[in-house]
Amino acid sequence: MSRRPGVAVITGASSGIGAEAAVQLGARGWTVCLLARRADELADVAERVRAAGGTASTHPVDLTDDDATTAVVATLLEAHPVIDVLVNNAARSIRRPIRESVDRLHDYERTMAINYLAAVRLTLALLPRFLEQAADGRGGGHVVFSSTMSSQLPIPLFSAYLASKAAVESFARSLRAEHGHAGVTTTVVYFPMVRTEMSGATAIYAAMPMMSPRKAGGWLVKAAVDRPTRVTSLAGAASEAGMSILPGVLTKVITPQLRRMDRRLARRTR
Ligand SMILES: NC(=O)c1ccc[n+]([C@@H]2O[C@H](COP(=O)([O-])OP(=O)(O)OC[C@H]3O[C@@H](n4cnc5c(N)ncnc54)[C@H](OP(=O)(O)O)[C@@H]3O)[C@@H](O)[C@H]2O)c1
Repeated sequence: MSRRPGVAVITGASSGIGAEAAVQLGARGWTVCLLARRADELADVAERVRAAGGTASTHPVDLTDDDATTAVVATLLEAHPVIDVLVNNAARSIRRPIRESVDRLHDYERTMAINYLAAVRLTLALLPRFLEQAADGRGGGHVVFSSTMSSQLPIPLFSAYLASKAAVESFARSLRAEHGHAGVTTTVVYFPMVRTEMSGATAIYAAMPMMSPRKAGGWLVKAAVDRPTRVTSLAGAASEAGMSILPGVLTKVITPQLRRMDRRLARRTR
């Protein structure tokens, strides 16, 4: 990790992994622009960034709101002649069987609105600047997308969430394919389960071993600084390879194990 400190725009920075990444980038001397809806939480994270030695600004915004996002982007472009990294990390998760979603198309719409469309909206808004920077020698932009190891496996019960993450991954691939040669690059980060507000929403996960937010924040820092195409666990990469070669077999083997794991976790949390 040798890249000079720069400016990073981080969404979902009011809690969990995004907040930890902001503080760790701050400790490396980065300037971080913190985006999320909760202003008080953003202010607390900004204080932690400053205490760690970094520079922080806060931008309370609902990223599903087009006009509000446009206004924040104008502020960011005005304040920073160079933006080095955009971390698209804000998201919501829904755990619900497809059979119980038959009257709930809005689950899919709301999840896509923040996990996919908001990430695309912000990326499109910053892309002209990234291309301009790359062309005039100020350095291209790097776009990081927070995704999940669950999209590398046949995981049940998260159809809305995982479809939105698959969309994000596909967009990242296209962006890199179209603009990588011109200096606009991407990293997709495939997190395993991480102990945050998001995973805490499912009661049975209290009994599951998980990665710490601090370590997960380190994965975003690695993505921002080293700019690899992806950051993944070995298990995630192996599952992905297995799914591309033998998807039917792997699905048959894994899904009963996952159902057993859920039953075990439910017993432990009773
Ligand atoms: N935790 C896990 O087990 C896990 C596993 C795999 C992947 N991930 C991914 O890691 C990323 C971070 O999640 P986390 O675990 O750190 O969860 P978290 O603590 O719940 O963070 C989610 C963040 O998204 C922001 N957000 C949600 N809706 C928003 C909106 N409409 N506008 C602006 N900001 C919004 C939230 O801030 P406000 O509420 O203040 O707006 C919050 O800062 C997500 O992309 C998630 O999918 C997490």
